[in-house]
Amino acid sequence: MATEKSAAPKEVPGKSFTLTDNQTGKSVTLPVLDGTVGPSVIDVRNLYAETGHFTFDPSFTATGSCKSRLTYIDGEEGVLMHRGYTIEELADKSDFLEVAFLLLYGDLPSAAEKKKFEKDITYHTMVHEQLHLFYRGFRRDAHPMAIMCGVVAALSAFYHDSLDIWDPRQREISAHRLIAKIPTLAAMTYKYSLGQPFMYPRNDLSFSENFLYMCFGVPAEPYKVNPILAEAIDKIFILHADHEQNASTSTVRLAGSSQANPFACVASGIACLWGPSHGGANQEVLEMLAQIGSKDRIPEFIARAKNKDDPFRLMGFGHRVYKNFDPRANVLKKYADEVLEELGVDDPLLEIAMELEKIALQDEYFIQRKLFPNVDFYSGIILKAMGFPTSMFTVLFAVARTVGWISQWKEMIEEPNLRIGRPRQLYTGPVQRPYVPIEKRG
Ligand code: SDX
Repeated sequence: MATEKSAAPKEVPGKSFTLTDNQTGKSVTLPVLDGTVGPSVIDVRNLYAETGHFTFDPSFTATGSCKSRLTYIDGEEGVLMHRGYTIEELADKSDFLEVAFLLLYGDLPSAAEKKKFEKDITYHTMVHEQLHLFYRGFRRDAHPMAIMCGVVAALSAFYHDSLDIWDPRQREISAHRLIAKIPTLAAMTYKYSLGQPFMYPRNDLSFSENFLYMCFGVPAEPYKVNPILAEAIDKIFILHADHEQNASTSTVRLAGSSQANPFACVASGIACLWGPSHGGANQEVLEMLAQIGSKDRIPEFIARAKNKDDPFRLMGFGHRVYKNFDPRANVLKKYADEVLEELGVDDPLLEIAMELEKIALQDEYFIQRKLFPNVDFYSGIILKAMGFPTSMFTVLFAVARTVGWISQWKEMIEEPNLRIGRPRQLYTGPVQRPYVPIEKRG
């Protein structure tokens, strides 16, 4: 299995931008780099050296932080591809570990490669017994993401044999360990909140079956995994696996650029994902739908979302990149219907969600700002139907996104000349001033 080497971005002959200082008349020419598809970039790496100026883009709305071969998003067309395969095809025809292989190694596995990868992951699902003790220090009602931040970072205290980021084999073992152990830690986090015993992973189950077994099984009796639930969670994992340079992935890359170990880097990604503007939105969506409570209160909440004096936003709506629709939400919306019907669950929140989407998409405020359901809008409804509490939703997002985080980290470390990420700033604080002794202060 080849890990294809990065194709250096190509300078576009004759294509460049010239910046002219209107005061001095001095010009600088900046080359344009082309990728394989999507917007070209203006290479500003020499801008400061040539002009003494930085660029200024505080929330990175127009900044390419790296080159990558993993995921491509066309926000206008609602396209999401992993290594060239559309998310619709992968969700329909693939399974999560196959997508994990694709993201890690660059192409879909052969049958033999897939069998070996599944075995490699399966035989890393157990965690060190000492890690069980970490949970004892948390309150039972601790937020599961708080626990995950702690126990995932703690993995680096146990696996000293795979922390050398310059050793390809150690990088691969760490990647396998993270993909395999984070579901186990996630299930342990859920069990701990219930006061139930941890369930050890089972090597005879698939990735998603094993996760459900560790979450919903109990030692007192055999647990038969519902194939409908196993397929549903596997699809949800596929849809959340990777997503270009989103906030948490950018966090993992920046942490990795300092040569921190991969376990610590993924823990930093978990911390960032927890935010309600990012992965924490799936929990907020369910809480918002419950707060709305009935279809006739939808107009009240739509009005609140539009009111600048009200901090309320429609959770699960809007996206920095998608400006027409989030293809993942479309897959999940179709799937939510199917799963709830197959499970015989009649959740009034689904009705409220679909009515909310219908009303919002007819409202000028949302149309003008191109706000529509994102991946978080429907995922929570399926997860709730499967029996997960809302507090576990972002943990499940992290289980899936670990594949993207570690694949992006691996791609960055494999690039030649890794340099630490170190943004600059526009300083707006006080200019130099003399120290004032305390007796002379006001
Ligand atoms: C994820 O980046 C990724 O790829 C993320 C993700 C991934 O897979 O990694 O896709 C996962 O994080 C999905 C997003 C989950 N978050 C939410 O659902 C939270 C609700 N959405 C927003 O907070 C917001 O839409 C963001 C954070 C998703 C995007 O924020 P932006 O791009 O910075 O947009 P913005 O805040 O500048 O909003 C633009 C305008 C503003 O109005 P005006 O000032 O122009 O009048 O749209 C408004 C905002 O007030 N707006 C909303 C809104 N989202 C934006 N108004 C009401 N409800 C909303 N949800």
